Amino acid sequence: MMVKAEVIVIGSGIAALKTAMEASEHKHVILITKSTLRHSNSYLAQGGIAAALSNQDGVSLHKKDTLAAGQRYNKVKAVEKLVCEAPAAIAELLRSGMQFDRNHDGTLMLGMEGAHSERRILHSHGDGTGKYIMEHLIGCLRRSLITVIENEAAVELIIGKDGSCIGVKTINKSGKMAVYHAERTVLATGGCGSLYRLTSNSQTVSGDGIAMAFKAGAKVRDMEFIQFHPTLLFMNNKTGGLVSEAVRGDGAILVTEKGRPIMEGVHDLKDLAPRHIVAQTIFSYVQRGEKVFLDISMIKDFKKRFPTVSSLCETSGVNLQAGRIPVAPGNHFLMGGIEVDEWGQTSVPSLYAVGEVACTGVHGANRLASNSLLEGLVFGKALGDLLAHLPAREIPEEKQQSKSFCHIATLPELPELQEKLMNEAGIVRTEAGLMSLKNYLEAFHIESLLDMDVTGQSITEITKANAIIVAWLIAESALTRTESRGGHFRSDYPSEDDSLWLGNSVILASTDVKNRLKGRRLYEYIEA
Ligand code: SIN
Repeated sequence: MMVKAEVIVIGSGIAALKTAMEASEHKHVILITKSTLRHSNSYLAQGGIAAALSNQDGVSLHKKDTLAAGQRYNKVKAVEKLVCEAPAAIAELLRSGMQFDRNHDGTLMLGMEGAHSERRILHSHGDGTGKYIMEHLIGCLRRSLITVIENEAAVELIIGKDGSCIGVKTINKSGKMAVYHAERTVLATGGCGSLYRLTSNSQTVSGDGIAMAFKAGAKVRDMEFIQFHPTLLFMNNKTGGLVSEAVRGDGAILVTEKGRPIMEGVHDLKDLAPRHIVAQTIFSYVQRGEKVFLDISMIKDFKKRFPTVSSLCETSGVNLQAGRIPVAPGNHFLMGGIEVDEWGQTSVPSLYAVGEVACTGVHGANRLASNSLLEGLVFGKALGDLLAHLPAREIPEEKQQSKSFCHIATLPELPELQEKLMNEAGIVRTEAGLMSLKNYLEAFHIESLLDMDVTGQSITEITKANAIIVAWLIAESALTRTESRGGHFRSDYPSEDDSLWLGNSVILASTDVKNRLKGRRLYEYIEA
């Protein structure tokens, strides 16, 4: 089956929906998701959406906080775009009927979160913001002319004779392959959280967009910068979802089993210190075999204030009456991704990326809380608007690619990989750990996986191959960056090294990688 569209958007989070809706003003858009519209990290988001709206606040303060959280590694132009367009993005949502939480006098309720210097976080139904924004956007999408295809996984980008992206191949739940040709293709598939054993992410967020783009020749950067959220609900050695930072914002404190506060003396901001500091502190206790809890006993009406967290606790069997929630840190957000400019253009012509899958540099080395739904809205609108107004283009013929690989090794099951990533490319990294991870991954013939022909493969096998590729990108990037900054902490290089690294990024391209690995003769390379 072959279908044609002017614009194809792959993904189902806030960035995907916003881009698709904006582009559909003037173009025929098909939105394809491997799951459903109600499955995404955006839908799960408990944090709110940041915008400088109060009289005491201003975009320059929002910019200052974003740069401070990003450890000055952010692209300033992207930050300015984000913070300057935030108030308009909120106004647009309000105009279209979105309901945010309000004070008794009817004014918008503005919350405070760690590393924000002013109250600027909007919520909807307390910690249900992601769900309610997404429901609102899904309602708007249903009224548009966009064709929505659910339960169909994008598995390979199609490249034309001129080197541009001309669409995507997909596989549906029954294993049937389809081909979509498009003038322009957008990846909005999210980050790669579910490649880690402990994560706040939806299980569908497995890095496949990054792997597809990388295989198609797009540059990928900053993959070492991963934000570990300090407080995932942790019961029976597994996570039961996120416990929002807003809980600490309301006064909860991190304590040991005996009730000793663990952030005392670690940072001036104590429990609201930057996420990487809090995550590393909890991790040091967990490593010593000690349990860490969030003491919530001081929060009145906890269930009413945090209905989503309360229901997650109930599902995991945590008794809220006891006044404490067991927590551990886990993968939350990828600051790196497919390298794009401010308009979402990747290094492959006619291929765009937006949201967490993309790296505009807006978050630098660490994202400021509640800037991610905002990123989806602001950059999604900008990209959608650009696509809506680009002239039509002739879709060139497909480039005949010589797939060159020997055999696809038996790939590990996801839990094995998740454990390795958590241990060797997690909250605290070392050269030895990263080298052992890289060697483990390279034994699966990365260069073969980059050339893997998806025809005839199952979604499970393709997902496993993509997971290995993305894990390798993380390991390689983390090994290369010999400093610690934001979400990347190396115990063998524990300080920031501005002279070497402030202006430098780890950028990887598949042609270089293939040549490098091929040169090492890790396996018998057979040209098809
Ligand atoms: C949280 O609620 O703690 C997460 C919010 C965010 O990551 O922006």
